[in-house]
Amino acid sequence: MAKLPVHLPDDPYGGLVGRGPGAAAARRLGLPVPPRLRRYEPGQEFLTGPALVLRVGAAPLADDVAVWLAAAGARVVGDLAAAGDERLGAVVVDATAARRVGDLGALRELLAPAFRRSAAGGRVVVLGAVPAEAGAAGAEPGEGFGDGFGGVEARAVQQGLDGLVRSLGKEARGGTTVNLLRVAAGAGEALRSPLEFLCSARAAFVSGQPLLVGPAPAPATAVPGRRRRVAVVTGAARGIGAAIAEVLARDGAHVVCADVAAAGEQLARVANRVHGSALTLDVTAADAPDVLAGHLRRRFGGADVVVHNAGVTRDRSFVNLDAAAWDAVLGVNLAAPLRLTEGLLRTDGALAPGARLVCLSSINGLAGAKGQANYAASKAGLVGLVQALAEPLARRGMAANAVAPGFIETPMTASMPAVPREVGRRASSLQQGGLPVDVAEAVAWLASPGAAGVNGQVLRVDGQHLTGA
Ligand SMILES: NC(=O)c1ccc[n+]([C@@H]2O[C@H](COP(=O)([O-])OP(=O)(O)OC[C@H]3O[C@@H](n4cnc5c(N)ncnc54)[C@H](O)[C@@H]3O)[C@@H](O)[C@H]2O)c1
Repeated sequence: MAKLPVHLPDDPYGGLVGRGPGAAAARRLGLPVPPRLRRYEPGQEFLTGPALVLRVGAAPLADDVAVWLAAAGARVVGDLAAAGDERLGAVVVDATAARRVGDLGALRELLAPAFRRSAAGGRVVVLGAVPAEAGAAGAEPGEGFGDGFGGVEARAVQQGLDGLVRSLGKEARGGTTVNLLRVAAGAGEALRSPLEFLCSARAAFVSGQPLLVGPAPAPATAVPGRRRRVAVVTGAARGIGAAIAEVLARDGAHVVCADVAAAGEQLARVANRVHGSALTLDVTAADAPDVLAGHLRRRFGGADVVVHNAGVTRDRSFVNLDAAAWDAVLGVNLAAPLRLTEGLLRTDGALAPGARLVCLSSINGLAGAKGQANYAASKAGLVGLVQALAEPLARRGMAANAVAPGFIETPMTASMPAVPREVGRRASSLQQGGLPVDVAEAVAWLASPGAAGVNGQVLRVDGQHLTGA
């Protein structure tokens, strides 16, 4: 894969202050200086410095974490002194056993000096318990709420980790990211891949958010005779969809690139580039579910990965939105993924055992956006879709998740008026727009076998955008 630019050429401010005298001048004037993000490159080191594993209280996961990080290529140290003068490539804190307010104080004492020593492009991951599970374990000695109450402090403390992580994401410098993995009871080995992903360069634009990891279903048996996983990506002719196709192919999948007939030439180019195949498909067509399901069953014996990426906007204030602008957006963005998913689940052999579904939501669906009531309704709807699918799919050994991109540098955002575009870029903790590849990395990870413990979740890829919640 070609080396990716630090800032796209159409981000003149980012280019100007990205290095040298421009950066120094911007700092003097108190202007934002977007850090250089550490993205995936073939052959690079897993981390830029040693990984420090910290323990709050009993810390039941810390030993496994150290083993997993070492296996991924990290030099793991147990205290700051062992790192010598080196800046830390990653800091992982096992706070799953924190139950009392005092435990948060202990966490501060351990983490603050380590946070200060984070390397540029460093990674901080806090491991927490699921607050309701921590609370359900019962009252701690000394907790005096009385009958009918139990675990109130434990639950409050675990929820407290959320605010801590979001704040550290905003304070982090040099492209360091900070995230919280909430580890459900029994998650076991399912934690390994989410931890590795968040520590890796592939998660460069993921920061300031919690992600829930639960137990993984038993691994699926592969389709007989299959050598490569099969993925389908809708809206793959350009932008984020094309990047998703590239990353899935890089990770070894045969990618079926689907898009409308009008995008035929671009679609063929993408399909050729990724050594995949092209499928002309208007996702809103009445026969689209049958066409897609039939194609996947006949040609491949089922898809391992389905990415609902095709999306459109028709922005207008709510009162000026006519039925056409409403229906166009809801039709492509929400009704089509619903109908296609129904069709795939209805057709025996359209999905391979262990299949993963990933929907492209948006932070505007999470936070709402002026002039985008139709778009936000459709993108929030996708969150509901993956939440509703999670349990029934888990029973079949499958999973569905959503990725919510923030401001991503694509032709869509390049066509925005200059001022909102510049505001959109800088209004995140990383002070820059993400690249399509950042979204693609998150999608490809959620589609990977290791992400089996993540189901019904929304992963933001937004550099902790201020409107992303
Ligand atoms: N660009 C961003 O900043 C951003 C932010 C948040 C979410 N998203 C979401 O990510 C996804 C990709 O966005 P993008 O910026 O790459 O968009 P884009 O407009 O560049 O590409 C969308 C692709 O979808 C295809 N498409 C549209 N209608 C279709 C249909 N009926 N059937 C099949 N294909 C169809 C288009 O032909 C196009 O190739 C969308 O769902 C979008 O809402 C983008």
